[in-house]
Amino acid sequence: MKLGVNVDHIATLRNLRQGIEPEPVFAALICEGAGADSIVVHLREDRRHIRERDLYLLKEVIKTKLNLEMSINDEIVDIACKIRPHQATLVPERRQEITTEGGLDVVTNSKKIGSVVKRLEKNGIVVSLFIDPDKKQIAAAKKTGVKMIELHTGRYAEAKNNKDQDKYLQELVTATRYARREGLIVNAGHGLNYYNVSRVAKIKGIEELNIGYSIICRAVLVGLRQAVEEMKRLIQ
Ligand code: PXP
Repeated sequence: MKLGVNVDHIATLRNLRQGIEPEPVFAALICEGAGADSIVVHLREDRRHIRERDLYLLKEVIKTKLNLEMSINDEIVDIACKIRPHQATLVPERRQEITTEGGLDVVTNSKKIGSVVKRLEKNGIVVSLFIDPDKKQIAAAKKTGVKMIELHTGRYAEAKNNKDQDKYLQELVTATRYARREGLIVNAGHGLNYYNVSRVAKIKGIEELNIGYSIICRAVLVGLRQAVEEMKRLIQ
């Protein structure tokens, strides 16, 4: 199973004080050094974390793959065509949301999504659609001509009890089987953490998991001891 690490929240921290650290590029290199198979970032329309400058630098520096999560907004598509990341994952975007809340509605927006897919692919970018584990959405994704999807694991990750978690896991299993039969490459992500990831990692047919928030949260805690020890040494 491959792991894509989302470093958006390194940029969230940096932007808190409008300063220069922590540097997302530095974080991306650490992730690659630790075995990440790709680096994921979301250039949001409101630029709340990742900025264009980060994309240019990441594209230049990282050795694995740059997977750019993006909306189908024309300005963002123009930027993607300029930067040409290895992969673009199309996601829905609402300004007020804290994080990407649901999958793309490909059934309703197939024309616009299809044209964005074509434009990005013409620029040599592999395109993935972030969708709910739903047969209708998978079929609509396939019709756009895309070769890859990412299944939204949010319903599974946020399940309040074991029964619901089992139900939503099964939804992911069924969706993966269907998408694989349709010849699509299947990735998954959203809300996965150190407690819920293993059941998803066991699903046959999923190639890559994209994980951000839980890894950055854990990094803060497992790195805190060293950070304090270093400061204590400096001030002695
Ligand atoms: N995959 C996609 C398409 C996303 O939009 C996100 C959130 O940026 C993730 C994966 C990672 O989600 P999380 O930060 O909850 O691990």
